[in-house]
Amino acid sequence: MRVSVRGINLGYTDEGHGEPLVFIHAFPLSRIMWEPQREALASRYRVINIDLRGHGESDSILWHFTLDDYAEDVVALVQHLHIERATFVGLSMGGYILFSLYRRRPELIKALVLADTRAQADSEEAKAGRMALAQVAYRKGMSAVADQMLPKLLAPGSLKTRPELVERIRSIILNNDPAGTIVDLMAMAERPDSTPLLASVTCPTLVIVGEDDIATPPSEAHYMVDRLPQSKLITIPGAGHLSNIEQPERFTQALMDFVSAR
Ligand code: MLT
Repeated sequence: MRVSVRGINLGYTDEGHGEPLVFIHAFPLSRIMWEPQREALASRYRVINIDLRGHGESDSILWHFTLDDYAEDVVALVQHLHIERATFVGLSMGGYILFSLYRRRPELIKALVLADTRAQADSEEAKAGRMALAQVAYRKGMSAVADQMLPKLLAPGSLKTRPELVERIRSIILNNDPAGTIVDLMAMAERPDSTPLLASVTCPTLVIVGEDDIATPPSEAHYMVDRLPQSKLITIPGAGHLSNIEQPERFTQALMDFVSAR
């Protein structure tokens, strides 16, 4: 489905009934990455998956946006769907967007799931890396972006032994366009440090991390849990950065246990 909000068409799916769960995907993927959770959860919950601007079936606009713009897109979709409060699940860049959402519209958030993400802003080195990757996207296209990103997204074991999974992730990346990817990179490089926000997050929060995540390692998850007043940490063995796809059953179970406890 697509909806026109804030001057842009956004792709999304809205499936099932009951308590709303809103999923925000990672960079440089799209809502398809949540397929295992949508399939497992839509018989029990209302599952909403959004394609962020510049991804999947959403329009891609080459302009200077911030992650607050992405968060406002999420707000607009949730309002369009007449959802007053929801549990929001964000992985990596999706988590960065949830920090923005919490800063702007905490009343919409019943509970948070922060997966394979970090609270801190980019270091100078990380910003330089983003600029370099933006040049790769601009000059060489999404296939070169996939080559660079795949070793960061998946655990070494998955890369070696699960070629079908590697190809699935590659095809999701190839379905995005360089403009959207470049906009993401600039927006992520500019995001503020969310560490000061953590102590004021009053909703229940589940932090999930893949044991072999090298992009946002378990130390980042501990850093957040140590500062979030109502949080719980689940570490998933046999998973890298894309823990929800690499170990879908474990990820979904952790999510269900968290949601059903509220
Ligand atoms: C992601 O998975 O969204 C990215 O790894 C986030 C990042 O590059 O910081």
